[in-house]
Amino acid sequence: MNLDEALARLDAARTPADLFGDDDAEAARAYRGLARLVHPDATGGRTRAAFDRLTALWDARRHAGTITTARGSYHLAGRAASGDLADLFGARDGRDRAALVKLPRDPADNDLLERESVALRQLPKDGDGRFLPYVPRLLETFRHRDPATGALRRANAIAALDGFHNLAEVKAAYPQGLDPRDAAWMWRRLLVALGFAHRAGVLHGAVLPEHVLIHPAEHGLVLVDWCYSVPGCYAHTDPSGRVPAMVDRYADRYPAEVPARQAASPATDLYMATLCMTELMGDRAPKPLRMFAKGCLLPSQRRRPGDAWRLLAEFDELLERLYGPRRFRPFHLPSTS
Ligand SMILES: Nc1ncnc2c1ncn2[C@@H]1O[C@H](COP(=O)(O)OP(=O)(O)OP(=O)(O)O)[C@@H](O)[C@H]1O
Ligand SMILES: [Mg+2]
Repeated sequence: MNLDEALARLDAARTPADLFGDDDAEAARAYRGLARLVHPDATGGRTRAAFDRLTALWDARRHAGTITTARGSYHLAGRAASGDLADLFGARDGRDRAALVKLPRDPADNDLLERESVALRQLPKDGDGRFLPYVPRLLETFRHRDPATGALRRANAIAALDGFHNLAEVKAAYPQGLDPRDAAWMWRRLLVALGFAHRAGVLHGAVLPEHVLIHPAEHGLVLVDWCYSVPGCYAHTDPSGRVPAMVDRYADRYPAEVPARQAASPATDLYMATLCMTELMGDRAPKPLRMFAKGCLLPSQRRRPGDAWRLLAEFDELLERLYGPRRFRPFHLPSTS
């Protein structure tokens, strides 16, 4: 095949199957052959559009198929979300349960996905089972070989949550700030999630808006993305106790111990959780809540509260003083799209 033939084939192809066929090995060969010919570096940039099209069709093929693992198979149905380092693909597992298959875009991040799988196993093993709904359920962790490049990626299959929205979406829906009485139940539940995890010996390490998912009608909360966590049972692999990586775009959200590469503690998570909540309320937070937050945001890790359960008890007292006995307040998330 020469360049003109390659361009003609690309031009004629409507679906990935037109170009690559069904067989994985054949498809990888076809992809590599075409990529060599139409790569912009090989043609002085003339064939960029054709190369982009090739990449798009190849991506579509890679992410549409079925991944078969030792335990079963996942029928992938397109990308459901893109996080900082990984893509999450919607899938049905062998038992037809809705799942998300999380794959790092760069195999260099495999260790972070492995960390997540370790944390998501330690939590149900060492934690109080009553609080399991506050963390994602790991269905399986496995290695996936990319048919195009041969690269091995660590994949985590996680039960998909239905009807949940992350706090970045909540903030976008309430740009003027959330009513503190609505933020109150989210804050309470976030402290429950952390109290549970910390007692199980796991630090989350990245309590950021995109990682706190809430169910508006049911007042549910799930803390996701455990790739940056510090699971106690990992201490023999990494005894540093440090948060292994930072989410760059949130570099200013971390307490000093994280950029300083010092060991993290429950107070690290509590600091980040506090910022999530104060940001959500903006100017609407009354003074006592702002003072409460201030105590959790002290620069010195040692002086900050480090016990989520105790902090929750204090928080409940404060809420009662501010708003009286607790009652269910329906929460509605207006659509932003
Ligand atoms: N179990 C789940 N059910 C529904 N949506 C989820 C679930 N887990 C994650 N999400 C959504 O997908 C987004 C990205 O997930 P996540 O943060 O785990 O990936 P990531 O940031 O790419 O991971 P990492 O940076 O750790 O590699 C989340 O912000 C959240 O909105
Ligand atoms: Mg993330």
